[in-house]
Amino acid sequence: MTNTELEQLVDTSDAWIRERTGIEERRIADPSQTTGDLAVEAGLAAIAAADVDPATVDMVIVGTSTPDAVFPSTACLIQRRLGVAPDAVAMDVAAACSGFIYALGVADRFIRTGSVKRALVIGAETFSRILNWQDRSTCVLFGDGAGAVLLEATTEHEGIINTHLHSDGANAELLHVPWGVSQGYDRLVDNAGTVSMRGNEVFKVAVRTLGRLIDETLEKNGLSRSDIDWVVPHQANIRIIAATAKKLDIPMERVVVTVQKHGNTSAASIPLALDAAIRDGRIQRGQLLLLEAFGAGFTWGSALVRY
Ligand code: ACO
Repeated sequence: MTNTELEQLVDTSDAWIRERTGIEERRIADPSQTTGDLAVEAGLAAIAAADVDPATVDMVIVGTSTPDAVFPSTACLIQRRLGVAPDAVAMDVAAACSGFIYALGVADRFIRTGSVKRALVIGAETFSRILNWQDRSTCVLFGDGAGAVLLEATTEHEGIINTHLHSDGANAELLHVPWGVSQGYDRLVDNAGTVSMRGNEVFKVAVRTLGRLIDETLEKNGLSRSDIDWVVPHQANIRIIAATAKKLDIPMERVVVTVQKHGNTSAASIPLALDAAIRDGRIQRGQLLLLEAFGAGFTWGSALVRY
């Protein structure tokens, strides 16, 4: 869906959306497709890229805030379609836009403790289903998508060096879908099931928090900014990405940006950006990557990865 198509739905313009967000287009799932359908596509692509027997994958973890059902988890619902081990650990992780980093952190810990050998970590969302398509301040920002990585226990490569996960629920109402199952579907009032955001305030907290997060990650690993080959940020808004990079004095040439094409796909945005930069040859084996995200909760997290 292009910005021009959005001009038909709400009082907005291609120029406003580009200037304020960097977004040029976003993908919208077909009405017949669910988050699980997108997750299956991404999961199968990751299994193919890793060239492993899916039956040896003993964990599936899906970062999502738009699951197919209240239960079973999306991970359980797609387990069989992925062909992974029938007794694998399968679960969803809900941390909004930090969902992929949270899922990666959980899977990494399962691998380090020896509980699992191969973990499929997927970020997948159909945010188009939780948008108020009459609210121009939110509906232009988000898109649907899924991305995945396959992790494997090994002593031969550094892989995920460490992850840093945080949350603070004090300002939950700045960015939320204020309704959920336990409040009762029968009492659902207009638009309570859609994204509501105080964009300006979220913007400021995001830039401040991401700056701190990157400093924390570098400090804990005894690294300086110049050691990082690529920053792969959550793709919310080009201005958040650029402001964070500027604050940290990291040149934009070393930051992967896909927001122009995907919009904000929440938990899917980092694996989608990773996929784009690996497939087009920007990210090379052996390089040091810093993945970072900020999302509703607020939640935030980073992963330092030797690819
Ligand atoms: N088209 C045209 N005008 C618009 C639109 C639109 N789509 N949306 C808002 N406006 C108007 C507003 O009504 C306002 O008009 P006014 O001055 O007459 O009142 C004007 O544009 C400016 O609005 P602001 O909200 O101040 O615009 P801002 O520069 O802050 O940009 C934006 C808004 C893009 C939402 C920005 O605040 C932002 O990116 N915030 C971070 C949001 C985000 O990325 N959240 C996700 C991160 S966490 C996660 O991914 C879940």
